[in-house]
Parts: sequence; structure tokens; C-alpha cells
Amino acid sequence: MAGRTAGAELRRFALVMTASLAAIAAILSMQPGSVDLAAILHIQPQLDLAPLARAPLLVQVHLLTVLYALLVGPIQFLLPKGTRLHRVLGWSWALAMLVTALASLGIREINHGQFSPIHLFSAWTLASLPLAVIFARRGAIQAHRGTMVGLYVGLVIAGLLAIAPGRLFWDIFFG
Ligand code: HEM
Repeated sequence: MAGRTAGAELRRFALVMTASLAAIAAILSMQPGSVDLAAILHIQPQLDLAPLARAPLLVQVHLLTVLYALLVGPIQFLLPKGTRLHRVLGWSWALAMLVTALASLGIREINHGQFSPIHLFSAWTLASLPLAVIFARRGAIQAHRGTMVGLYVGLVIAGLLAIAPGRLFWDIFFG
């Protein structure tokens, strides 16, 4: 009985794998350029770093710290926890996120010199960071992990929003 169930599972697995490989092969065999996404979306992908060089120092600092946080985040999630390395990288990550959020308070380009909805991410970060540290020090590991994952998700969402039309990254990538 168990053998028959295992056999059925194996057949289903092989079917799904074959279908997936066939789908991938079909996509890869398409002529490059046959679907011109750029034309459909009326965008012209490019890489122009001039807007970045012209950006205010606060924006450049903000970008440097988000880059560090983006890179170190996955390392923290993957490496063993509770080690000296985890603590050192963790403190450096928290510092980078603190600078990210503090610098963002001084950037008010979207809403004519006023705070914008994006500043909710700053408030979220400034509230969550101390909580994540407190949870870690108290040994509340589940809460620590959840808060850190929440912070990282916020970082990624804020990053995706940074590519919206009219924002600096839009100018860099789509002119
Ligand atoms: C990959 C992550 C991120 C990228 C690439 C990014 C990029 C940028 C850039 C280029 C600007 C200034 C120019 C513009 O508005 O286009 C900016 C502004 C800002 N960022 Fe970020 N950011 C990221 C993450 C974050 C995070 C984690 C926060 C909050 C903690 C944050 C909060 C803000 C705020 C509040 C502003 C000012 C918006 C305004 O002008 O009202 N960003 N970000």
C-alpha cells in the first residue's frame, strides 16, 4: 500500500518536473526581442549615473546604507545565529538601518518639502529597530526574528517604491 502511494507520488513528481522543463524550454526557445516589453511600457532602459552624482549628500548617504543593509541582510538570515559574527554583523546592520531612517527624515523631495507616506517606513524602522535589539537581548528569539524579517521586508518594499516614475532611480534607469 505504502509502496503504491510512493509510486504514485513519484509519477506525479516526474509529471510536474517534465511539464516545468517543457515550459522553461518553450520560454527559452522564444526569439530574443519577440516580446518588446520596453516598447509596450513606453520606457527606454538605460544606466545614467549623473542624477546620482548630482543628488544631495543625504540621499547618497541613504543609498550607501541601504545598499549595505540589502547585502548584509541575507547573510544574517543564512549564517548560524548566536555567534560572535552574527552579533557584530547584526549591530552593523542595525546601525546602517538607523542611518538610513535618520537620513530619510531630512529627505523631503516627493511632497514639496513636507513628510510623505514613504516616511512611514522611517517611523516603522525607528520603532522596530530598538524592539529587535531588546528581543534579542531578552532571548525572545521568535520575536527577534519576526521583527528583523519585518524590517528587511520594509527595506525591500521601500527600495521597490524608489523606482517609481519621478523618483531618482527612475531617472537613473529610464531617464
Ligand atoms: C533598497 C532600499 C532603498 C532604496 C533604493 C531607496 C532609495 C531612495 C532614494 C533614491 C531616495 C531619494 C530620492 C527619491 O525620492 O527618489 C529615497 C528617499 C527616501 N527614502 Fe529611501 N530607499 C530605500 C530604502 C528606504 C528605507 C528602508 C526607508 C525607511 C526606513 C526609506 C525612506 C525614505 C524616505 C522617507 C525618503 C524621502 C521621501 C520623500 O522625499 O518624501 N528608504 N530613498
